[in-house]
Parts: sequence; structure tokens; C-alpha cells
Amino acid sequence: MCGIFGITTNQNKPVGKIALEAIKRLEYRGYDSCGIVTQYESQLLVKKDAGKIEEINQRIKLDDFPNGSRLALAHTRWATHGPPTKINSHPHLDCDDKIAVIHNGILENFIELKEEMLSKGHVFKSETDTEIIPHLIEENLKKNVDLKDAVVNAVKKCKGAYGLAICHADYPDTIIAVRRESPLIVGIEEGKTTYCASDIPAFLPYTRNCYILEDDEIAILKAGTVEFYDVYNSNFPKKKDLHHVEWSMDAAEKGGYEHFMLKEIYEEPDALRRTLKVTNDSLKDFAKSLLSAENIYITAAGTSFYAALAGKFIITKFLGKYIQAIECSEFKTELINSLEKDSVIIAISQSGETIDLIEAIRWAKDYQASVKILSITNIVGSSITRHSDKILITQAGPEIGVAATKTFVTQVLIQSLVALEIAKLRKIESQNEIQKYYDALHSIPEVIERFLTKSVDLIKYIVRNLEKNLNFFFLARGISIATAKEGGLKLKEVACRFIEGYSAAHAKHGPISLVREGYPIIFIAPPDETYERLVGNLMEFKSRGGKIISLVVEDDKKIGDLSDITIRIPQPGDKYHSLFSPITFVPALQLLAYYAALEHNLDPDKPLNLAKTVTVH
Ligand code: G6P
Repeated sequence: MCGIFGITTNQNKPVGKIALEAIKRLEYRGYDSCGIVTQYESQLLVKKDAGKIEEINQRIKLDDFPNGSRLALAHTRWATHGPPTKINSHPHLDCDDKIAVIHNGILENFIELKEEMLSKGHVFKSETDTEIIPHLIEENLKKNVDLKDAVVNAVKKCKGAYGLAICHADYPDTIIAVRRESPLIVGIEEGKTTYCASDIPAFLPYTRNCYILEDDEIAILKAGTVEFYDVYNSNFPKKKDLHHVEWSMDAAEKGGYEHFMLKEIYEEPDALRRTLKVTNDSLKDFAKSLLSAENIYITAAGTSFYAALAGKFIITKFLGKYIQAIECSEFKTELINSLEKDSVIIAISQSGETIDLIEAIRWAKDYQASVKILSITNIVGSSITRHSDKILITQAGPEIGVAATKTFVTQVLIQSLVALEIAKLRKIESQNEIQKYYDALHSIPEVIERFLTKSVDLIKYIVRNLEKNLNFFFLARGISIATAKEGGLKLKEVACRFIEGYSAAHAKHGPISLVREGYPIIFIAPPDETYERLVGNLMEFKSRGGKIISLVVEDDKKIGDLSDITIRIPQPGDKYHSLFSPITFVPALQLLAYYAALEHNLDPDKPLNLAKTVTVH
């Protein structure tokens, strides 16, 4: 969940400044403390502290290092072991201040290793698991091995997850990067500068050429060169493919918007347009695997799980088979006695790194080797792709805001495209009918564009109106329960309000007792097969004094007329568009959460205690 960055160069570059800018671009991975180390005249110079990067920088000028420095490591932390304090922030050093380590992940056996090192006389300063690494390396270097082997032998003793970048005061241009289960990418400007980072945006202003480190690979970075080895076969270098990243720098920067979250909501139409171009062959491949499956599961975490709930609904409509949705953290517990060998699992993750999801699919494969994993992710080369039989990549582009926005809509869209491939293969609908669903999908970017152009003031007005109420809820039926849950999650994440998305029918069994005169309830009401029943639910709340806010399509009459405030999504009220309503309705709720965060003076890009990529259980 932390962000790590390293640079080694033979150019006259301000490495401290570059490192600082890089961790600012990684701040969505964690932002409770940070630090930078540079190597200069056989010494390590460290600056670190607790707080947000910009605050710390104002206090201690994080990037102010001597000019001749050619190497730096930088870290932005999401605390796991030890509270966010200066002492616990990274980098961590050995006893002689010669070795510096930054780490993303969790070392499970650090207590045993720490006891071993303490018994050998090492002195620890922090409460972190990370600090064990520089001491293990220091200990290994006493045995006259070189730095690479000292690192290899150190990580071989560690259990758990790590993306590590390491430097040594006596190795002026060397960074060692090694990973297991935590992402690490190496970027390169041939012959000049080499970078490592937990995410591509960190070095995107300088290079688009990169290598993706796999589990148990180690990279030796020098200025403008890199060599790769396997941790468990570290005598001979190995070849790796160079990737060229298509993402533009614009996409990874705020570009005039106040926050990434807002910018990324406004990028949804283009993200959807790109995703609409995903090739038919890969969609058809996915569709065929689902058609031949006996048992199908869909699993994910957070926003991706709500995208899965929407997607399962859309796919099931054309597939004619039940798909069971299970949160990835519960996957093994739920299926340990029943996962059949001919099962297919759809796994969804924007980052492709969520540890609970990786663990769920790895367990499934170990338990039944013939199980097939179909994954949907936004990140080429991410961990999930290594455990998958088939992969679909959403084309959302880099998403920096901690709260997922454009990845949600593209995840639902790509599942919708799979659903239509299934419809074609099964020939259960006429060509003409299927085309109408495609037309609806292709009109979505414009629908969202029109909504974003004309409805912002209304959303701000609703936020001010809701402000007085400490709680309210979203109610819906059918596929819109996924929309309601995602709306509730967004408000929890960025506006720190425990707002729930709930089944409108089920709300009679509890939540209705909260309703008093003027109590707000937001009804999500596309004109689908649940609409008439939802009108009935709405009346139950209205007759108890509830203040009804509704989210409906443009030409809606009934629910719109019954509501105190109506948000209208400019889309046709037919069944073709309604099936995909989570894609067009959720942006309204994202915007609501965004402005609610501002109303509460909260930074929507850096919600308290959250991180974008969750690599701990
Ligand atoms: C974190 C993020 C959420 C995200 C969830 C799942 O909680 O803050 O925005 O939905 O992880 O992440 P994934 O990368 O697997 O989609």
C-alpha cells in the first residue's frame, strides 16, 4: 500500500526533487509519513517525518540535497507496523547507517527475525517490520558476499509481501529492487537514468519504457542500465521484455482540476470510449469460457465488488446461468468444501494487486488445478494477470484518486461487452435486438458528458441540503442495488459518512424505523422491471415524512413527480439503456460524494486511513 521510488542517474539531475515529485504522484498509495534518502560522498543523507508530503516538505525541505548526488530512494507510507511517526517512516537503516531500505508490504516473520538480529547485537530504532531488512543485509555483508547476494540471502529469510528498494553508501550508483506480491516496475532511459517504482506514474514524466518485475525477481539498477536475476537462481542474469506504456502524462496529473477524483470523473466518457474498443476476440474468449462453465463465481473487493454485482446481473441475463458473487476476502471460507473442478472464476481488480483477491484465486487454483480464472483489471502486467487464464484490460488509464471512479464504469462496461458476446454466441436474441443493446452502450459516453455538463449545480445544491442530516440512505431494487451500494461506499470513503446503499424492499425490515419528517432517502430508479415495485417502496417512505430525492432518467414521470428533488440522467427510458444504468447513474453519486467531501473540508483524494491499493490482509 506504500509508494516507493528510486532513481540512479549519470546525468546532472536534481535527484531529490525528482524523488519528491515522484512520491507526490504516488501519494494515493499511502500518505501518513514519507522520507527520502540520497547517496553522497559515501554517506547516506536521510530526510523523513510524519504527515502529508507537502506539509513535511514545507517543514524540512525534503528535496534539499547536495548537487552532486546521483541516486535517491523515496517512500510514502501507509502505516501497518508502528504508528505514523518520524522514527517509523522509511527509509530504514542498518546499525552503521550504510544501508537504506524502503518497503511496501508486510513481513510476516519479522518478530522471529528481529529476535535473531537482536541476539547478534543489532540495534533497532523503529517498531516497523521493514527495519529487519537493512540489518539482515548488514549481517550478510559481514560474510564477504557482494551487495546483490547479501540482499538475496536476506529476502530468502523473509516471509510475507515486499517490494523493496535498497541502496548502500559505498555503492554510489546502485539500487537493488526486489519483489514478492507487492508491485515493482523498473523504468529506463537507456544509458542515462534508471528508475524503480511501485506504480508507473512515478516515472512517467521521464520515460515510458519499463520492465515489470515478477515475484522473486531481483533487479540491479545502475545509471541507465538494469540487470535481472531470479532470487532462487541468482548466478545468471535473465532477459525480460521491455514494455512501452501508452498512458500520457496528462492522465497522471491534475490538469487544472482541483482534485484527481473530479478529474477522473470527467475522464469517464473517454475511458469508456477506449474500453468500447477492446477487441472482440478477447471478449469472445471470455464469453466462451463462461458458456462452457458448470459453476461460475465472481469475486473482488471494494468498488470492484460492486462493479461485479452489476456485471453479474448483466451477464446472467444473457448467459442463463447463475453467477455467485463472493467478496474475495471470504472466497476461500465460503468455498472450501464446495469448489468444483470445472468452476470458472471472474476476478475483478482495478489495481490487479489486492492481496485478498490474489490469495483467493491462488487458493482456488491450488485447490482445483482445472479451475479457470478470468480476470478484469486496469493494469497490464499486474499480479492478478499472472494467475489468470484469460485477461481483459479496462482502458481507464491511470487512476490516482483513492476512490475508484472511472475504473468502476469501465469494469461494468467491459462485463456488458462480454454479456453481449454471450448473447451473440447463444443466439438467444435477434441481431437487431443485440444491436440495440450495443447502440445503448455506445451512447453512454455522451450521456455521462451531458450529465456532467448540466447537473453539477443540482448536485451541489443536494449536498448542501443533505448537510444537516448525519445519516441517510440510498434505496434501490434489482441491478440498482449495486449502484446504491457503490454510492454509499463513495460517501463513506471520501466524505467520512456512514451512508448505506440498501435494497428498497428489505429496508422495511429495519432502516425504515429511522424515517422522520424530512429524513432524506435517495431512490435509484431507472425504468427497469423493478420500477413499479420501487414506486410502492417510495410511497412507504414518503407517507412517513421521508424527503424523497430520486435519480431517474430524463423523461421519467412517476417517480420524478413523487420526489422532492430529482436528478435526471439524460438517457432514453428504454430497456436497452436501463440494463446498463449502473454505468450512467453511478457518476452522479460519485459527484455527490466528491462535493460532500468538500462540504466537510475533507480532501477527497486522500481519505483518512485509506489507500488505493490494499496489499495487506
Ligand atoms: C481499496 C481502494 C478502493 C478499491 C478497493 C479494491 O479499498 O481504496 O477504491 O475499490 O481497494 O481495489 P482493486 O484494486 O482490487 O479494485
